[in-house]
Formats: sequence, C-alpha cells, structure tokens
Amino acid sequence: MNDLPTVLRERDQALRLIADPCSESAQQIISGADHLRAQTVGPAVHLRGLIEFSNYCRNNCLYCGLRRDNQQVSRYRMTAAEIIETAGEGAKLGYKTVVLQSGEDPAYSGEVIAEIIREVKQFGLVVTLSLGEREPWEYELWRAAGAERYLMRHETADPVLYQKLHPGQSLLQRITLLKALKELNYQVGTGFIVGLPGQTPDILWRDLELAWKLQAEMVGIGPFIPHPETPLGKEPGGTVDQTCIMVALARLSLPYALIPATTALGSIDRFGREAALQAGANVLMPNLTPTFYRADYQIYPNKICLGEGAAECRGCITGRIHSIGRTVAADPGHHPLWDQD
Ligand code: SAM
Ligand code: SF4
Ligand code: FES
Repeated sequence: MNDLPTVLRERDQALRLIADPCSESAQQIISGADHLRAQTVGPAVHLRGLIEFSNYCRNNCLYCGLRRDNQQVSRYRMTAAEIIETAGEGAKLGYKTVVLQSGEDPAYSGEVIAEIIREVKQFGLVVTLSLGEREPWEYELWRAAGAERYLMRHETADPVLYQKLHPGQSLLQRITLLKALKELNYQVGTGFIVGLPGQTPDILWRDLELAWKLQAEMVGIGPFIPHPETPLGKEPGGTVDQTCIMVALARLSLPYALIPATTALGSIDRFGREAALQAGANVLMPNLTPTFYRADYQIYPNKICLGEGAAECRGCITGRIHSIGRTVAADPGHHPLWDQD
C-alpha cells in the first residue's frame, strides 16, 4: 500500500489540530478540505434515504439508546413488506440509494434480508446495508442479492476503549469483518464517534489512520450524544468543532471518499450538517422511516426529524443544500474508484 497521506504523516500537526479544533489553523484546514472536496468529488451532495427497520439489538454498546439492557425502549420490527413498501416510496421521492439499518437483530435471517434486497433492487435503487456484525456467508449472500454498500463504523480505533464500550465484542473482529466486506467488493463504510469518554487526540488520529488503512469508500463521523438511559448518560458529548476538524482530516486523507454530514451533527446544532458539508462532507442521509416508528429509534436523545414525513425531510434537505450553493446529485453516487464487477 502507498505511504500514509501527508496530513497523517505530519502527526504532531494533526494532533494539535485535533486538540484545538477552534484554532485559526483548524479553520484553514477546514477550508482546504472544502476546496479539495470541490476538486475531487465536486459540488453535488448524494442523498441516501435511511430506513430504520428494527430497533431490537443483541448488543450492549455503552453509548447507544438501543442497547439491549435499555428496558425503556418500545421495540419494533418492520415486516419485509413494510420495508419494501418504504423503499418504493423512497424511489418515488427521487432517492437513488436506500440504507437499510437496524440494531443487530438476528430475527431477520440471512435469507429474509436477501429477499428484501432482491425486491428493493426492483425499484432500481442502490442498496446500502447497516445491520452490524453478521456471518461472512450472509454478507456474501446479500452481495449476490444485489447490495452494493455496507456501513459498519469501527467506532474507535483503540482496542482497550473499544472493549470497554462494547461488552463481548472486539476491535479485531470488527476489522476482520470490514476486510471481509472489502473482499466481497462492497463499497465499505467505516467511521467513528467523536467525543467519547476516554478518547484522546491520539486515538482520533488512529481512527483516521484506520479508515485510511482500510481504504474505506465511506467514512461516517458523528459527535457522541449522551443518552440518559445508558451508562454514559451523564458524560459530556462531542462538539460540532471537534467533529468538523475530523471530517476535514478524513477528506484530506481520503480525497474521493463519500463522507456524510451526520444526523447526529444536525441534532446537536441546527446548522451542524451544513458545517460538515463545508468541511469536506458530500453525503446526507434523510430519514425515510415511517413516522410511526421514528420516535422509537432514538440511539441518542433529541434526534431530529421525528415528526417530519419522508417528503418533508427530502424538501428540507434540498433547501439546506441549495442554501450553501451546492447541488443534489442526480447519479447513484458510487465511489468514483469502485468497480462494480
Ligand atoms: N447496529 C448497527 C451498528 O451498530 O453498526 C447499525 C445501527 S447503529 C444505531 C448506527 C450508529 O449509531 C453506530 O455506528 C454508532 O456510531 C451510532 N451511535 C449509537 N449511539 C450513539 C450516540 N449516543 N451518539 C452518537 N452516535 C451514536
Ligand atoms: Fe446495537 Fe448498533 Fe446501538 Fe450498538 S450501536 S447497541 S450494535 S444498535
Ligand atoms: Fe428532516 Fe430537515 S431533514 S426535517
């Protein structure tokens, strides 16, 4: 593999930027990343319609409101027919991609998910999956069924912190699965949470290094938002500035990557997503989940768009994109270096 990109090789400078994200130099890096984004991937913002189809989860991630020990959640599972119908509505609204996301929920067998993918592909949609850790043969089955992308953040690149935050899981296993997804020729999305308790600038630098080593096609970076019904409920959260400098460094490390301006950023600041779009991001993920279920998919509190329908979110997002002089992409929005076959 090639050498580390300059922005990561100059580690001390990167660490200073991460430690002081409001500094003048951080602002310059953010402008530089915005400029690079314009040159490499252009002005278009890719929209991905998010369908949160189940909030059951077998895991117990310390930060997440859907963790299995949270008894306050009213759990739901959408049926295969509901998921397919929702995807069809997304296609009618003009989405080119849908993201099927859930907690880690083994109630949906590999074969059931494959059947849903095959049906959703009938609408001409690109299918992104975000279902967590499953068996490699299931990833293979879903790729064969037509899914093109898989999102599974590594969350934190520090193995000790990873273990503390994810009881019963390991960073090594996560990396192994991300590599398996790459081998299957998915466009692979990794990413991390910014502002986690116990996180240091050095760990955040290693988050970028890992995303680069994986040559991730997508990198999702969002602030930690403490959820009161979790063990981390009383910890401070991440900030917009911290998150934006990480988005900028990710763009400078992976010039062609698909980088979302995350909903978490939009949830801690009304203009958080716009800030990320101007720091190197080029993807937005409006919510397509039927409003009936939305309030129960609260991975963190004060999540935006709980009352707005799919069409409203689409309209809102389009307005926000235009307000900063950008355009909505008309193409499927694959990674420019990804070869379908
Ligand atoms: N269960 C799948 C997984 O973990 O990959 C997909 C759904 S999970 C809810 C999606 C992402 O939510 C995780 O990758 C995690 O980074 C993020 N997340 C969960 N709780 C969060 C919190 N309190 N603050 C910020 N992000 C959070
Ligand atoms: Fe489950 Fe994903 Fe939440 Fe972890 S982050 S508890 S795997 S839904
Ligand atoms: Fe949902 Fe703005 S994106 S209302």
